Amino acid sequence: MRVQCQSSGLAAKQDLEMPVITFANTKGGAGKTTAVLLLATELAHQGYRVTILDADPQRWISRWHQLSPLDSKLNVISYVTQASIERQIAENLYKTDYFVIDLPGAQSPLLAKAIGLSDHVLIPIQGCAMDAQGGANVLELLRFLDEKGGIKVPHSVVLTRVNSMVTTRALLAVKMLLAERNVEVLGTPIIERAAFRDIFDLGGTLHTLDENRISNLDKARQNARAFAAEMIRRVPIRGTVPLSERYTRVA
Ligand SMILES: Nc1ncnc2c1ncn2[C@@H]1O[C@H](COP(=O)(O)OP(=O)(O)OP(=O)(O)O)[C@@H](O)[C@H]1O
Ligand SMILES: [Mg+2]
Repeated sequence: MRVQCQSSGLAAKQDLEMPVITFANTKGGAGKTTAVLLLATELAHQGYRVTILDADPQRWISRWHQLSPLDSKLNVISYVTQASIERQIAENLYKTDYFVIDLPGAQSPLLAKAIGLSDHVLIPIQGCAMDAQGGANVLELLRFLDEKGGIKVPHSVVLTRVNSMVTTRALLAVKMLLAERNVEVLGTPIIERAAFRDIFDLGGTLHTLDENRISNLDKARQNARAFAAEMIRRVPIRGTVPLSERYTRVA
């Protein structure tokens, strides 16, 4: 999202851009909220300031946030609606490096609005046909915005809940379908890991969970790190001011 800074101070007239990444799939349960949390907490762990916009009325991220120790790098905004989202982004611009939006798992007017505000739309898809259909709805909307509105929003699919041991036939079929349609697929799939469920139950992040109690925590951390690294490459922070200086200047 490009913002022309009008305020006085050293950042005045600087063109500030804070990436907005939206996770969307109109089929419920595709793994959006889990992927949002993995990306946001990993970015925060690496020192980026992250604002999650929790636009799901079920408020899973907000509930997780209430359970979790305070993290100065991570800000969660609840009750995000079509009417409020732009204001909520604007109000948090100067304390955020990355915005991450969690949408509800159904068609909603917020979908088009959030896509319009995004620098990148990530479509989580498990290796199953129903998820792929929910993803196809988002891809159709992206194509519609491009063809009818001239709004081009970069987007890609992230495969979720992927079995670490075997490649299922359903996953291969979904991959083939996406390749036929020339849809970008992230090189890093999100693997099915107990740790990714546990953070919702226990609060905190992969980095605060106890290695002795959670199986394959190291692999879960590695997976989240690789996912975040790929997203940072795809959606870099592009400011005219170095990251370390951008916000202290306007504070
Ligand atoms: N990579 C994963 N490993 C293990 N469990 C996962 C993973 N991804 C998602 N799950 C589990 O699958 C279920 C659905 O995931 P999640 O809530 O992230 O999906 P969603 O797309 O946000 O759903 P909704 O559309 O209802 O908001 C949850 O129980 C979650 O814990
Ligand atoms: Mg969700």
